[in-house]
Amino acid sequence: MKLLVFAGSTRQASWNRKLAHQVAEIAAEAGAQPTLLELGDYQVPMYNADLEAEGTPPDVMRLKEAMAAHPAWIVCTPEYNGSYPALLKNTLDWVSSPVKGDPVWSNGLRATRGKVVGVLSASPGALGGLRSQSHLVPLLFNLQCWVAPATFALSQAASAFDASGRLAQDAARLRVRAVVDEVLRAAQRLGAP
Ligand SMILES: Cc1cc2nc3c(=O)[nH]c(=O)nc-3n(C[C@H](O)[C@H](O)[C@H](O)COP(=O)(O)O)c2cc1C
Repeated sequence: MKLLVFAGSTRQASWNRKLAHQVAEIAAEAGAQPTLLELGDYQVPMYNADLEAEGTPPDVMRLKEAMAAHPAWIVCTPEYNGSYPALLKNTLDWVSSPVKGDPVWSNGLRATRGKVVGVLSASPGALGGLRSQSHLVPLLFNLQCWVAPATFALSQAASAFDASGRLAQDAARLRVRAVVDEVLRAAQRLGAP
């Protein structure tokens, strides 16, 4: 099972990126083929329909391809003001916008429909960014994703990783593994595209 893993942060020392790396490692142990996608590697402007009318940016097309190519995803989201960051909204808005006149991408949901998605979050705070998840999930539903019921919010993220970037607590690794297992099982059972 091909699993796309990405974090909603481009910050160099992002806790969510560290969590995404742990997800990929744990998913590989579970027998999946994880791909770590770094949103910072893509030049994606703030969505503007006038700009889009001049042509969908090439990196948006690359993102569409990458997302479409993976039946299962795990997103690690930061929490900003009780919600998920603009980076994720902007990315998913671009990815879901139809490419007019394109024989493949004129359907805006092509890259997202039927994907099985696990949602994790990490925050230095006590709730681990849990509130961001409750905003991100309806967006994913709108994109016609299946969202895994198992989730995990990594609290006190500043002390959750050891010097090598590994989750210090076995309990946290087990929570991540539970989400990974559920996403992989559901994607297999649903025959996710
Ligand atoms: C504008 C802004 C709002 C924030 N709001 C919250 C919040 O509501 N809850 C929370 O737990 N952390 C909040 N934080 C702190 C983030 O959790 C923290 O910056 C975290 O490191 C971001 O994730 P990252 O490490 O993956 O980049 C906020 C940070 C910023 C910049």
